[in-house]
Amino acid sequence: MNAMYAVQFDFPGGRETLSYREAIEPILGTGEVMIGFEASSINPADVKISSGRIAPRAGTSPFTLGWDLVGIVDKVAPDVDTFRVGDRVIGMSTMASTGRGTWSQLVALPATSLALAPAGIEPTVLAQLPLAGLTALKAVDELGPIPDQAVLVVGAAGAVGSCVVQLLARLGVEVHALVRTHAQGDALASVGPVSAVYTGEAPASSFGAIIDAAGIDAAYALRPGGTYVTCVPGTLPESVGANGAIGVTVIVPESGTNLATLLGYLADGSLNLGEPSVFRLSDIATALMAFENRLGRRTVLTS
Ligand SMILES: NC(=O)c1ccc[n+]([C@@H]2O[C@H](COP(=O)([O-])OP(=O)(O)OC[C@H]3O[C@@H](n4cnc5c(N)ncnc54)[C@H](OP(=O)(O)O)[C@@H]3O)[C@@H](O)[C@H]2O)c1
Repeated sequence: MNAMYAVQFDFPGGRETLSYREAIEPILGTGEVMIGFEASSINPADVKISSGRIAPRAGTSPFTLGWDLVGIVDKVAPDVDTFRVGDRVIGMSTMASTGRGTWSQLVALPATSLALAPAGIEPTVLAQLPLAGLTALKAVDELGPIPDQAVLVVGAAGAVGSCVVQLLARLGVEVHALVRTHAQGDALASVGPVSAVYTGEAPASSFGAIIDAAGIDAAYALRPGGTYVTCVPGTLPESVGANGAIGVTVIVPESGTNLATLLGYLADGSLNLGEPSVFRLSDIATALMAFENRLGRRTVLTS
């Protein structure tokens, strides 16, 4: 058996604590699928975990990092009949909950967390979908019935925010976007139909629903009794409860079913993911530097 490599850290710290190194092959459990790594993305969660801002609630050091995964099925547990060796699959691992990272040449994940990847879409494009797309889908779901008035999306130019914008637009919702810079506002034009773009600040008390994908306090823009959904745990503004509004924090679940739904939107053109910057998994230090300086582009890792 050849050695297997993964991106791991022993203790939290800066970029230098991460290394691409020989690692122990994961054990295939009941209901699981072993996947050979093809591509993944870097997400803010990876930096929060490797820097120690979030501690994995399971697993032990050394930790393998990574949430997103596109790869080829290498083995399936005897009780799994939904995937076969050689299938290309896409999945998301809730690494903070399970301690199970995807930046590894082999990854074992529950079959229920996976979806079959469609033919004709590059792994580097698909790798941007799992965490950002599943979070956006959950955030839109948390709004409840489809809003008949404009929804404000905060951080609309980011990975999660730009998926939220597109998911709302495909439901026919009028989308208003709050971004940080004018360049981000210009880039949104290629993402989907946005009725208004605000830079820096949105109009006060104007929205019955807000989805925050930036983790800032935008509650000033909410009407009394509205719904405020934040995608960033720990950032739900206290004022949301004070004015009779509903406040929700998104916790993203692993879900092959939801991934299949999102893949359907990719296939029918209602969800688009941009061209990423691509790096080798073995060149993780350079990739993380690019992620920190990203200007609208996702950072994708390949084998
Ligand atoms: N709850 C969950 O289960 C879950 C799941 C996935 C992600 N998340 C969290 O959701 C957040 C977004 O993730 P992401 O992958 O979309 O990150 P991202 O790509 O970095 O997007 C964040 C966006 O928010 C923008 N932003 C920051 N401050 C802003 C401000 N004051 N006004 C307007 N826009 C502002 C950023 O702009 P700049 O680039 O200019 O800073 C960026 O465009 C992260 O904190 C992530 O950890 C949570």
